[in-house]
Amino acid sequence: MEKFGPIIRNAAEILHGGDYNPDQWLETPEIIDRDFELMEKSGCNTFSVGIFSWTALEPAPGKYRFDWLDRIMDRMAEHNFHVILATPSGAKPAWLATAHPEVCRVDENGLRQPYSWRHNHCWSSPFYRAKVREINSKLAKRYANHPALSGWHLSNEYSGSCYCDLCIDRFRSWLRERYGTLENLNRAWWNTFWSHIHTDWAEITPWGCSEGNSFDWKRFNTVQCCEFMKFEVDALRACAPDVPVTTNMMGFFDGLDYWRVAEVCDFISDDVYPGWGIEPDVRKILAECSMRHDMHRSMKNGKPFLIMESAPSATNWQPGHRLKRPNQHKLEELTAIGHGADGTLYFQWRKSRGNLEKFHGAVVDHVGTEETRVFRDVAELGALYRKCGGICGSAYPAQAAVVWDWECLWAFQTSSGPGSLEEKKYTETVQTFYRALWTKNIPLDVIESLSDFSKYRLLICPMMLMLKPGVAERLKAFVAAGGTVVMSYFSGYEDRDTNCFLGGWPGDGLMELFGIWNEEIGGIPAFDRQSICYEGREFDVSGYAERIHLRGAESLATYVVDPLYSGNPAVTVNRFGAGKAYYIAARTGEEFLSEFLGKLAADEGLEPVIPADNPGISATLRSNGEEEFLFLFNYTAEERSVRLPEGSYTALADGSARSGVVKLPPFGSEILKK
Ligand code: GLA
Ligand code: ZN
Repeated sequence: MEKFGPIIRNAAEILHGGDYNPDQWLETPEIIDRDFELMEKSGCNTFSVGIFSWTALEPAPGKYRFDWLDRIMDRMAEHNFHVILATPSGAKPAWLATAHPEVCRVDENGLRQPYSWRHNHCWSSPFYRAKVREINSKLAKRYANHPALSGWHLSNEYSGSCYCDLCIDRFRSWLRERYGTLENLNRAWWNTFWSHIHTDWAEITPWGCSEGNSFDWKRFNTVQCCEFMKFEVDALRACAPDVPVTTNMMGFFDGLDYWRVAEVCDFISDDVYPGWGIEPDVRKILAECSMRHDMHRSMKNGKPFLIMESAPSATNWQPGHRLKRPNQHKLEELTAIGHGADGTLYFQWRKSRGNLEKFHGAVVDHVGTEETRVFRDVAELGALYRKCGGICGSAYPAQAAVVWDWECLWAFQTSSGPGSLEEKKYTETVQTFYRALWTKNIPLDVIESLSDFSKYRLLICPMMLMLKPGVAERLKAFVAAGGTVVMSYFSGYEDRDTNCFLGGWPGDGLMELFGIWNEEIGGIPAFDRQSICYEGREFDVSGYAERIHLRGAESLATYVVDPLYSGNPAVTVNRFGAGKAYYIAARTGEEFLSEFLGKLAADEGLEPVIPADNPGISATLRSNGEEEFLFLFNYTAEERSVRLPEGSYTALADGSARSGVVKLPPFGSEILKK
């Protein structure tokens, strides 16, 4: 089993802390003094500093002041705290945007935005880049060898796109490189349709009405973002070559292909705000968090990641504004650690006194003391983390993977129909597949279709509408070598240009792998009833059902209600080489998936971390080769008992010995060392 090194420089402990904005308090130094006292009491050790500090660092063009940051960095070092120092490009000074309006974005209506808000700079503006290089270089030069500097936090939540002439020019150059000739581009975008043929590169804009055009604009935006990131990184690396770099991601945010963003990062970090006030089912909340954690761990081949932001209590912007109930804070944060994070930080350390986030949860509230419920929750977690050093760098072994792919998401978004976008539910469907195995405590990776399949035994590919080049071949090789693949309806329709495969679906050779032909897909509106019969039981179908035909596969379930489908196969298996390829032709609920995938996982010999007959409990395992850490989570509002697998365990929280049956309070969580 692999053991990974620390994700940031000089830090061999679980990271705990948050966004710290001392520049909001420079006129009240006693508040900053108090911060450092409270930081010690909270069990925090890591702070992301300077995220929105551009104006505090460069109050007027070319006039820099670092005195306040020097003092903060020195104090951080005195306390042995780690600083993940930000580049300030996420929010620009008013003087900069006023003197150079071209640093502001042009919106999708073609209007240059006035100076406002944050996260809205043009990706291409040479002046913005020059200023970013200048300030990044100054930060890197000044703090490269500072003992508190442990990592770089690039900008903040990169997002959005710019429609200015410069950005559109770059789009055209990128298309030229991608397609070589206009003929190739016209063919890829199927531009004979509605007479959309381009005869000059200059005609091309982000607004063209080809689906391929919209799709490529999405792809290009990730290219723009990654280029901007690399530009930022180059400025930092020149002076601080060995300080690891990250940028804070936003889970399944649809605007950027984060697998490409991950390539520019040394380690992955994520901002997670579970919908405590939106989703009443805590099981669903935890499963959704777990899935994004599994993806972030998988992005760097199992390397631990960091939660850069989470809310110590409620956010100000989510509907519901529900306070976390007792134990829920620990439950949320340990879910990340249990799935491979080596730290969880907060937005934010101290609440702003004014402006947009004054009502956003923070470790330190306006009252300014440690006598709050939230502070106690944080300090309790901090005390536990201090006993968890052994977990750092440990791996999360998984033999099964679920595929969720940004380009697939975009293919659903840009392809008009079948059905409305709301009906397609790509992400929700993958989450349902994921949850079916998560509930059974089967460790899972969450990967993209370009990831290496060969290390898994079971591969789940829900709604893989688009097959990128080589994916079908790699799936075949995976199964031929003994792997098991499960694919669902809505898969193998489109190639990388979003054009449909001819000659039968699933295309690109997958008809042979699955031994079926998918003749047509139909919607199941709410006024229709459809179901499938599997092993003598009926399971409802909603949303979509395909009419498929056997071409060598064996039928495992058939449609039963609608005469148009009745008797047709709905779930199939095909033996291919040494492995098996399963196809699920209809949108079934979680109940069927849980039954079906659970059985399949058992057939494949995939070991659950604890048996699934511990209702209400989810469990994960991290291992560093010598020690194993069992994480237990009670996602219900009642006390639950868990039967531990054979062996003797030590509870990290209090060092007590455990074996047999342990009890978890409502929403309780526990780490046991084996
Ligand atoms: C995002 C941002 C933070 C803050 C939080 C509030 O994650 O990165 O600066 O605005 O949201 O939840
Ligand atoms: Zn631009």
